Amino acid sequence: MLPPIDSLPYTAEARPDAPQKRTAVRRITAGNIGRRKGNQPFAIVTAYDAPFARCAEDAGIDVLLVGDSVGMVVLGYDSTTHVTLDDMLHHTAAVARGTSKAHIVSDLPFGTYQASDADAIRAATRMVQEGGATSVKIEGGVRAADRIKAIVGAGIPVMAHIGLLPQTAGLGPGYKVRSNREALLADARAVQDAGAYAVVLEVVDHAITAEITQTVRIPTVGIGSGPSCDAQVLVLHDVLGLYPESPSFAKRYADLRTDTVSALTRYAHDVSERSFPPA
Ligand code: KIV
Repeated sequence: MLPPIDSLPYTAEARPDAPQKRTAVRRITAGNIGRRKGNQPFAIVTAYDAPFARCAEDAGIDVLLVGDSVGMVVLGYDSTTHVTLDDMLHHTAAVARGTSKAHIVSDLPFGTYQASDADAIRAATRMVQEGGATSVKIEGGVRAADRIKAIVGAGIPVMAHIGLLPQTAGLGPGYKVRSNREALLADARAVQDAGAYAVVLEVVDHAITAEITQTVRIPTVGIGSGPSCDAQVLVLHDVLGLYPESPSFAKRYADLRTDTVSALTRYAHDVSERSFPPA
């Protein structure tokens, strides 16, 4: 007869050699985000690596954008157009490893989705399969609608991005506020109708942003577009004071560049003075 279970030295789960019971934590889905439309506004922040992604998740931010802004704030480029799909996969995978429940939306970088629906589906699929993204973001309104439809049709949720489009900013009026009301409303409707679950509005006139937010059924995510959006997104390095050329609309909540230089100066000083390591 077997001994009673309580008299065994280990329960099945506690035995060191027992297979660990895995509690799958489901990531926030695009559907969850879509249902936040019209509710309390929520924050999104960019993330590019495991430790900062974990900090954001611990802060209760449950939508993380692996933006192609990584090219400027981490990789030292002067624009986002140099960022490759492999760069984005590398950073997306790090963010996925550092988090367990956050929704990870990753930018498809310049040149990976413009040429054809097939290219767009291939790039988005790699982002989900190899990077661990939960959804992808692409830039463009009316002109990106077919791509959005194709990617969503392949089973991958898409966040759209209208207004100032950094990947092609050189073609438009640069970093000026976007205020072509008819065109912006058409873009917002087109991406919604194509199946996007949310739309980023970058540097859009505040009154037009409010009108778009009231018009579309999907959450609007503002950056430099005023307070009326369903969500706001900021670049992590702007929030933390790690990037010297932050845009004026970004709010700096810390000055980590100063703290970092100060810490490293003290460390170098301690080494040169032989006060570190201790004797
Ligand atoms: O790449 C990025 O960080 C972005 C945000 C500016 C929305 O697309």
